[in-house]
Amino acid sequence: MSEFRLVTDRLILRSWREADRDPFFALNRDPAVMEFLPETDRAASNDAVDRMQAAQAAHGHCFWAVERQGDGAFLGFCGPMPAREPLNEVELGWRLCRAAWGQGYASEAARASLAWCWANLATPTVMAITVPANVRSRAVMERIGMTEVEGGDFDHPHVPEGDPLRRHVLYRIARPA
Ligand SMILES: CC(C)(COP(=O)(O)OP(=O)(O)OC[C@H]1O[C@@H](n2cnc3c(N)ncnc32)[C@H](O)[C@@H]1OP(=O)(O)O)[C@@H](O)C(=O)NCCC(=O)NCCS
Repeated sequence: MSEFRLVTDRLILRSWREADRDPFFALNRDPAVMEFLPETDRAASNDAVDRMQAAQAAHGHCFWAVERQGDGAFLGFCGPMPAREPLNEVELGWRLCRAAWGQGYASEAARASLAWCWANLATPTVMAITVPANVRSRAVMERIGMTEVEGGDFDHPHVPEGDPLRRHVLYRIARPA
């Protein structure tokens, strides 16, 4: 199957490659990156890559690998995952290595992903979720024009009861007229 590729000013969003598994696991071991995310060991990190590759194969999109133009560095992921539990709506997500924060890369990748959704999917809305304290992720949502859904907070069913990461906020954007 041909590789997916979405090019922005400074980045390439693309299909996952086997060579991404090591740098992705390295990113998943960084406590700064994982502050608001569940612990991810090597098996869980590989499972996540498998799920993204399966989504790409089945639906043509996923949380794509993000590569920096110029040096080809693997920075993390950003993209639209197909609708799935618990909200059953296309979800934009992002996770970048600590060294890539503070340069606008996440917002650049998220904007391009959103534009790709409107151009290629029939979905009327796209959403994003995070824990309330993840202000950096919420700032990306707001920069790309998403707004918090009033009364949309929910307990994530895949996070155990009593876990401080269970409560989530919901942001959404509607297809431009
Ligand atoms: C969420 C995450 C991707 C956000 O990264 P980020 O670097 O804060 O977001 P951006 O890439 O959009 O960068 C914005 C920052 O870059 C700055 N910036 C620098 N150069 C820039 C440029 N050329 N263009 C735009 N912004 C630029 C902005 O001013 C802003 O700075 P600020 O944070 O001091 O306000 C990152 O924190 C992360 O990977 N976190 C861990 C994983 C995670 O929690 N993911 C979400 C789970 S739901």
